[in-house]
Amino acid sequence: MERRSVLAMGAAGAVAVVAGGLGAAAPAFAQTGGRGAKPVSGDPQSLRALGAQINLPIGSALTPQDITQWPQISGGQFSVVTGANAMKWETVEPARGQYNWTDADQLMAFAHANHQLVRGHTLLWHNQIPAWLTSGVADGSITTNQLWGLLEQHIFTEVGRYRGRIWQWDVANEFFTDGNPSSLNPDDWWIKALGPTVVPKAFQWAHQADPGALLFYNDYNITGEDGTNAKHNAVYDWVRQLQDSGVPIHGVGTQAHLDTQYGFDPQRFQQDLEHFGSLGLKVAVTEADVRTFVDSPQTQVPTDSLAQFAQPFEYAAMLEAAISVPAVISFTVWGFTDADSWVPGVFTGEGAACIYDVNQQPKQAYYSMQKALELAHGAPRRAAPPRA
Ligand code: XIL
Repeated sequence: MERRSVLAMGAAGAVAVVAGGLGAAAPAFAQTGGRGAKPVSGDPQSLRALGAQINLPIGSALTPQDITQWPQISGGQFSVVTGANAMKWETVEPARGQYNWTDADQLMAFAHANHQLVRGHTLLWHNQIPAWLTSGVADGSITTNQLWGLLEQHIFTEVGRYRGRIWQWDVANEFFTDGNPSSLNPDDWWIKALGPTVVPKAFQWAHQADPGALLFYNDYNITGEDGTNAKHNAVYDWVRQLQDSGVPIHGVGTQAHLDTQYGFDPQRFQQDLEHFGSLGLKVAVTEADVRTFVDSPQTQVPTDSLAQFAQPFEYAAMLEAAISVPAVISFTVWGFTDADSWVPGVFTGEGAACIYDVNQQPKQAYYSMQKALELAHGAPRRAAPPRA
């Protein structure tokens, strides 16, 4: 796959953490609004506390390991969380009709206990769909009509289960290609199976299942990470068409997976965030990380000496751009620790993409984000996020 594109923080016990089980249902925050997500960490220098000062929730994707092994960081540093895999279709319905909500419920309970908002990720994507679904379509045992029904059921079941408790849902993920992004990818698994109306349908169903959730389209290389605006422009035009035809889409998520070998243009990044915002949409940075070449997947020491400068710079530049664009309502990193980052497994020879190292020690990238937030006093006024 080609993509151009804490100090154990907080005194022990500073945050309430739970390692499993479904906590009491949180109030439907979408209706409560108002006072903003308050940090529960006693540490005023945590990313979440600093973000709260400017009403910008700072988030991370979390794995079950993050929740059980490093709850002080998972709970103390972030005010919005995303399941790295917990809510993907193959996770929640590994066998047809047999649901497994263990990881998703664990994430929801952890978020509730730590007063964190949740980004649901993701309902409609060509990856990480169950094998029973893909093989059934391939061998004809699942007909087109049945596939429509299964998708509808999937969306209503999952979105309905967490109704009122998910702030933002990534309804559709990665429907454009890098090579020729002029239209939806005709070779996308869903487009081939059901045609392009599958995307608006998914938004409509998700909206019916949870009218209070903000519904996002999420993709990578849509804020200039590859040095061009081709994919950005294609997605912009398409999203505008969706809006014009009354599809309930409320936001665009830019994944923002950077790689030090490609460079980065913060100004273009900011302009593209603004451009999406000009559609009247919310914008979220959903999966930020900055990978680089490393010595080994275990130790992940950068081999390029410039990486130690490029990474903190690029993290800070992304965050500063987000801070400066009022339409941006959250900034999420795709995992906080190199110890369980997705990067080494997907990009051969690369790693060290996160803000904490393989031993959960904060890196310069962490401090650069902290500094960017500390210095954000003149940031545009944002509406307070919902309470969590
Ligand atoms: C990644 C997870 O982090 C990995 O654990 C998993 O093996 C593959 O998927 N874009 C997305 C995310 O939208 O869902 C992906 O997450 C990373 C790329």
